[in-house]
Amino acid sequence: MGVWNEQIVHIRKAVLTDMDELLAIEQACFGNERFDQLVLRNVIVTEGFESFIAHDDAQLVGSAMIYHDKNHGESRIVSIAVMPGRRGKGDGRRFLECLEERALYAGSHRIGLEVRMTNVPAINLYLTSGYEVLGRIHNYFGMGQDALYMEKPLGPM
Ligand SMILES: CC(C)(COP(=O)(O)OP(=O)(O)OC[C@H]1O[C@@H](n2cnc3c(N)ncnc32)[C@H](O)[C@@H]1OP(=O)(O)O)[C@@H](O)C(=O)NCCC(=O)NCCS
Repeated sequence: MGVWNEQIVHIRKAVLTDMDELLAIEQACFGNERFDQLVLRNVIVTEGFESFIAHDDAQLVGSAMIYHDKNHGESRIVSIAVMPGRRGKGDGRRFLECLEERALYAGSHRIGLEVRMTNVPAINLYLTSGYEVLGRIHNYFGMGQDALYMEKPLGPM
């Protein structure tokens, strides 16, 4: 649980009974590129993945997902999504901090992600949180759309 924006926001692990809300977040935030129910189910139940969902007292705030690769000591952000009406209030950064805490707890020494090159809000979020662009992945999203690979070291510097 966290208090930010003068509102109490509850963030907790997602469970299968959150499926309708997770699907609503996917639809609102990713449109045609949303995860379907099967993918969301797998992210909830498969070892190594963690999913989170957040609400405030009045509404659904968003979700965040991560994969911990314990063999290589690294974590990969799967997604961060804040409902359109809630954006710009610090929720995305709070989700990111939550995922970084979980990555540290899982023993990861770095955390990475792929982000669409045109996704300025997300790229800014990561750049202002200490992530560096390490590469460009051609056609990562298909239809000629490239991704940036970004990464941040974790733990004592
Ligand atoms: C990216 C996303 C998660 C950001 O969530 P948010 O709650 O609006 O972000 P925050 O309010 O925490 O803002 C954190 C930082 O992100 C950046 N940012 C957020 N919105 C921005 C915008 N519209 N334009 C430029 N930068 C922006 C800023 O650096 C901001 O820091 P600042 O407020 O100190 O300037 C949200 O826009 C979203 O859900 N987008 C759709 C899904 C998506 O693309 N997810 C990321 C890829 S997995």
